[in-house]
Amino acid sequence: MCGIIAYAGQQARSNTILLEGLRALEYRGYDSAGLASVINGRIQVIKAKGKVSDLQDALAAAHAQSGTVGIAHTRWATHGEPNECNAHPHTNGIVTLVHNGIIENCQELKAELIQKGYSFHSDTDSEVAAAVINEAYQRCKDKQKTLAYAYTQLKGSFAFAILFADDPTSIYAMRKNSPLIIGIGTNETFIASDISAFLSYTNRYIELKHDEIAKVDERGAIIKTLDGDFIQKTIKKSDVQAHDITKGDFPHYMLKEIHEESHVITRLLERYMPHGVNDLMQTMDDFANIEEIHIVACGSAMYAGMIAKVLLEQKVRIRTICEVASEYRYANPLFHPHLLVVLISQSGETADTIAAMRLAKEHGVKTLALVNNRESTMAREADLFYEILAGKEISVATTKAYCGQVAWMALFAIKFALMRHQLNETEITVIQQELSQLSSQMEQLIHAPHYKAIAAAIAPYSDCYFIGRGLDYALSLEGALKLKEISYIHAEAYGAGEMKHGTISLITQGTPVIAIATDAALLDKTISNIKEVKARGAHVILIAADHLPVDKAVADEAIIVPHLNPFLQGITTIIPLQLIAYETAVQRGCEIDQPRNLAKSVTVE
Ligand code: AGP
Repeated sequence: MCGIIAYAGQQARSNTILLEGLRALEYRGYDSAGLASVINGRIQVIKAKGKVSDLQDALAAAHAQSGTVGIAHTRWATHGEPNECNAHPHTNGIVTLVHNGIIENCQELKAELIQKGYSFHSDTDSEVAAAVINEAYQRCKDKQKTLAYAYTQLKGSFAFAILFADDPTSIYAMRKNSPLIIGIGTNETFIASDISAFLSYTNRYIELKHDEIAKVDERGAIIKTLDGDFIQKTIKKSDVQAHDITKGDFPHYMLKEIHEESHVITRLLERYMPHGVNDLMQTMDDFANIEEIHIVACGSAMYAGMIAKVLLEQKVRIRTICEVASEYRYANPLFHPHLLVVLISQSGETADTIAAMRLAKEHGVKTLALVNNRESTMAREADLFYEILAGKEISVATTKAYCGQVAWMALFAIKFALMRHQLNETEITVIQQELSQLSSQMEQLIHAPHYKAIAAAIAPYSDCYFIGRGLDYALSLEGALKLKEISYIHAEAYGAGEMKHGTISLITQGTPVIAIATDAALLDKTISNIKEVKARGAHVILIAADHLPVDKAVADEAIIVPHLNPFLQGITTIIPLQLIAYETAVQRGCEIDQPRNLAKSVTVE
């Protein structure tokens, strides 16, 4: 996904505001950036490969002036490699625009335009979109009609901020399947992919929906339907706080967000069970007629779902599958009236997960979205939606949102167990007690001293393996993803029993293997697997629950985590995995919050 920020105001400070907004949006994409400011009635475009800081250098080198109107963009490349030519904004004729999304019929449109004599300089679908709009405008000379027509011609997903050279005081905007909001300031108006881009100027915003066209200037925004009818919008106030989008005293957002995990748990408990476990009977919907659950998500969200699958099948005995959205949406799933499809997504904008949700809805299946953004597409479109309550998460590698997903899914599984009378009073009391201690136990794990030393044994290596069984296997999947996406070490997770069926051939002297053991019933098997890899030279780091009779000598290093009821075990055990990944990446000198090639939410297929 990419980041869009646009500004129209009384003060000629567009470059300052646009650069500040791009920095807040860099988590959405950071392989190139650019801006267009209106200077003395003319559109001036400056672009740069690399990060926003590179764009700032380019502006300084060009002695670029600021204007009262401008648009800007930070890119995560989809069509065309990351370079200055493919960076946004893109201009065709009198149209200059920035775009987030994918125009799925751009090749067809491009061929038609070339036939009409248009030429293109970039490899992007966004430049084609600019030409479509320019070509339509040349025909009808009416911006509203032009954009309404373009809306129907462009297939796929888009969020645009658009300048027309013959209207230098206004910015136009429209969106389909990509987010866009309009910030309402005092004598200044903003357009952005998310509120963090203008939060330091205003927390008042209106949401631009599909089939709507906005005309924005210093006085505010005029919103119309595609047919040109005015729409009265309610101005909302965001509860995102400025401190949510600053690192504070932390060196990286990722570390700050790990430290916030205990607060996430506290908020979830306050929201969903303020007085105790039985509150779940009221604070969550009734799922009485549900006989099967499909959990669908991508990446870390899917791994949170894998933990829930273990709990729902093994503890609640309800048939559950957990599938990556990009597979599920093409797998012709077996839908039926007693199925609940649970979609997990931090952003609520992940294209494949949205597509899976829409597929289930098309078949009349109830959908439940668990998201961290209540203004997201999934929150709007799912039959039921629940909030992760993690607060704004900036670091591309998710930590606190994942932790919130695991915790909410645990409450979801406990709700089913309550509905099915599978928990007796003693078990409910134990869960209640453990939940009440959870935040403090998490704080202890977060502040434990040993992660740097453990990371030192991993950082020199280019491969690392994670092994576990059952719930511990699900945790190892996320542990491996965290390590690989920020340290660039090739990390793989395996069911502990599976290593000997091939992968053990990759174990050599010193190969780091992180073994997770929290389930007493599976301990002996996991210990055997640890011995198998140690016998081949592996350096084993064991993460074990404190109730297990583990001889720490079986591993080279051991981290002990509190033993909790299986419903809750994953919430704390993930913390060492996150901090080992973080410290390893730091020791390898990696870019922690914006790893190469990644984006915070993949809003394209
Ligand atoms: C998170 O560390 C990953 N970068 C990524 O796998 C992410 O979890 C995945 O893209 C799903 O995103 P979502 O939760 O916003 O849908």
